[in-house]
Amino acid sequence: MRVDEVMTAAVLVGHGELDALRIRHDVPVPRPGSGELLVRVRAAAVNNTDIWTRHGAYGLPGQPDALAGWRGAVSFPRIQGGDIVGTIAAVGSEVTGDRMGRRVLVDPALYRDESPQAPPVGLLGSEADGGFAQYVVVQAAQAHDMTDSPLSDEELACLPVAYGTAMGMLERVGLRDRETVLVTGASGGVGLALVQLAAARGATVLALTSRAKADQVSAAGAAHVLARDDNDLAARVRSLSPAGLAVVADVAGGPVLEQLLPLLADDGRWVIAGAVAGPVVSFDLRRLYSHNRRLIGSSMHTREHFAELVEIARTGLIRPRIAGRHPLTEMHQAQRQFLEGQHVGKILVRC
Ligand SMILES: NC(=O)c1ccc[n+]([C@@H]2O[C@H](COP(=O)([O-])OP(=O)(O)OC[C@H]3O[C@@H](n4cnc5c(N)ncnc54)[C@H](OP(=O)(O)O)[C@@H]3O)[C@@H](O)[C@H]2O)c1
Repeated sequence: MRVDEVMTAAVLVGHGELDALRIRHDVPVPRPGSGELLVRVRAAAVNNTDIWTRHGAYGLPGQPDALAGWRGAVSFPRIQGGDIVGTIAAVGSEVTGDRMGRRVLVDPALYRDESPQAPPVGLLGSEADGGFAQYVVVQAAQAHDMTDSPLSDEELACLPVAYGTAMGMLERVGLRDRETVLVTGASGGVGLALVQLAAARGATVLALTSRAKADQVSAAGAAHVLARDDNDLAARVRSLSPAGLAVVADVAGGPVLEQLLPLLADDGRWVIAGAVAGPVVSFDLRRLYSHNRRLIGSSMHTREHFAELVEIARTGLIRPRIAGRHPLTEMHQAQRQFLEGQHVGKILVRC
């Protein structure tokens, strides 16, 4: 494959609004080093983290309003995009040439160490350049062959961040067959992934979302869909799960935590990975310890979790829902659609 000298990319030049994101056609194509690959990106998906990183919305310890990425300071210019599907266009030293041209799904995590359970300490698109570009350099070991997957490039691109995060949450919380799980933010990228993955495990899914999106969330596998503005939410949950919820898989946070924590069963588990409804909350600690409930923070996935996702991607067990498609040069429009919040499923960028 002929590799160009320069490429088109959406380049983030600093924290800010959409004007901090510049479409450039003169970005040098990166070169793969030892153990690395150059991927010609075919599709990438938009995630909430792209927006929060652009806004610098993650705060710092003791400074919730400080401008920062999820791991602290972000180095600019930065090419965002943690969801990458493409074909191998060049290989660095220590990588065999027979991988050239293969279709790959990239695990975007930068791990603390080499172990299968290592936690992520960075993300392509945040701590290193990502996939909102025609080319990206990735670790060869993190480019998973998808030649035989029945999923399209666009479907595969929905998986890494949203489904990886959802897989990490379900594994860390140990969701089992026939348990009842409440999913918040269920129409979003991570939320819909939680609904699909939990239902595929045989769990009963109660999904919390806005009323207009109930049908699509139900179609993804939720047994019951609850409106998040329902004044009687606690009573509704209690009637659907009289013995108490085994698990809450939460990406929203905010007031719902205090409201629904008492509805967890004894020994119930609450796993949290996001804070779209508010990052700073108060709740009664007595409702946690007196029932041996567990509150678990979850950041992305491990190599082990991602390997499970790769298997699902290869078999086509789950088909992600696509809510919009845009060319890379219309990244601003893709992010506007994301921010409007009317969609259910993932918004794709064709590179
Ligand atoms: N920990 C990690 O590793 C990790 C990884 C990825 C994402 N995240 C975080 O997880 C969260 C969700 O990410 P995402 O990519 O799935 O975002 P998303 O696609 O925007 O989905 C968020 C969903 O939350 C719902 N929502 C919006 N405002 C809400 C509110 N005030 N109260 C309750 N629900 C609300 C919306 O659905 P309805 O309007 O239908 O309710 C929306 O679909 C974000 O905080 C993101 O930063 C964390």
